[in-house]
Amino acid sequence: MNSWAATRKDFLRLLAAMPMAPLAGAQSLTVPGKRPMLVHNDFPEVLESPLEAFETWLTPLDAFFVRQHLPRPKVDPGSWKLTVDGLVDMPLSLSLAQLKAMPMYTVPAVLECTGNGRGYFKPAVPGLQWKKGGMGNAEWRGVKLADILAQAKVKPGAGFVDADGADKGVAKTPDYIRSISLKKALLPDTIVALEMNGQPVPEIHGGPLRLVVPGWNGANWIKWLNKLTVAAQMNNGFYMNPAYRYPKRPVPPGTAVKPEDLAVLETMPVKSFIVSPADGYKHPSGALEVRGIAWAGERKIMKVEVSTDRGITWSTAQLGKENFDSSFRMFRYSWKPSGPGYHLLMSRATDSKGATQPIDAAWNPSGYLWNSIDRVGVVVEG
Ligand code: MTE
Repeated sequence: MNSWAATRKDFLRLLAAMPMAPLAGAQSLTVPGKRPMLVHNDFPEVLESPLEAFETWLTPLDAFFVRQHLPRPKVDPGSWKLTVDGLVDMPLSLSLAQLKAMPMYTVPAVLECTGNGRGYFKPAVPGLQWKKGGMGNAEWRGVKLADILAQAKVKPGAGFVDADGADKGVAKTPDYIRSISLKKALLPDTIVALEMNGQPVPEIHGGPLRLVVPGWNGANWIKWLNKLTVAAQMNNGFYMNPAYRYPKRPVPPGTAVKPEDLAVLETMPVKSFIVSPADGYKHPSGALEVRGIAWAGERKIMKVEVSTDRGITWSTAQLGKENFDSSFRMFRYSWKPSGPGYHLLMSRATDSKGATQPIDAAWNPSGYLWNSIDRVGVVVEG
């Protein structure tokens, strides 16, 4: 759901009172620290990664996608505090220095926007029309959320952890708060990250502190994290209900779904795409290497297959050595075109629970979890 559209009028009124640079053409917008990105929105920034960002296992910081609901907050790492309250015996207020003194862990994980690929659903659904680049894979380093919660001494009866960042609601757009289950919060890979790809988490990605919730939809990865509240019940604010919910059972494309028939989204589905060749590539002649990436929510990738004959036959691709839960797995396949002309290349991944990508992702009113088999058209010239 794009809450932004609903409140855009209010926000524009507010903007009129703010100093602002004139809007550049969408594609020519330059954002400090970023290479040219696909710009869905310039303020607050919503930037999609270009395809070449996925040539490497880790997505470079300057090409990593950005998704904000609200304007970025002012950040002062020197005075930053992470408070922990609610159902705890020892409420905490931790500085960055105190967090850095705790044991640190490195977790490679894909951060993916729940609506990544929304632009491919038919019939079209409102909201940001993401294509493939609303996600990226990074190495996150920080403190286990479980260690922080152990310090705070969670009381019996706790079931959820509400996470809030320093960005604030604007006009009718509410504060951005998400709840994750205590079970997920206590998993060893759920961390409060201070670093992203070996550098302090950039401000645009939530630095100095952001929540990393491997395998779960990006909405949970709270940026500018400054408050954790342990609670018995799930938070019921706008960003938990009705936003980021999915039909409990498949619905006919184009139909509305009653709120009581929607459930909170957590883990992401198995997915792959071909990074090279790019769609529309003209290949002179001879063999061509097909390369891409695959990932699968909280699971590992076990297999990627490539079809070069419109899905009639499938061949197993070679998988990259990096093989972690919740992270990219690279793949490559050496293709010998059968002759000149237009060819369709397809990729489909299978995860460690045996789930395989569908031909067509299930339509849903908010356009979430698009994971159809990927397809790329190539013209072989000689
Ligand atoms: N955290 C805060 N505080 N505010 C936000 O608007 N957006 C969420 C999540 N965390 C958001 C947030 C969404 S919807 C996504 S997909 C990811 O951050 C995007 O993270 P990125 O901008 O670092 O790529």
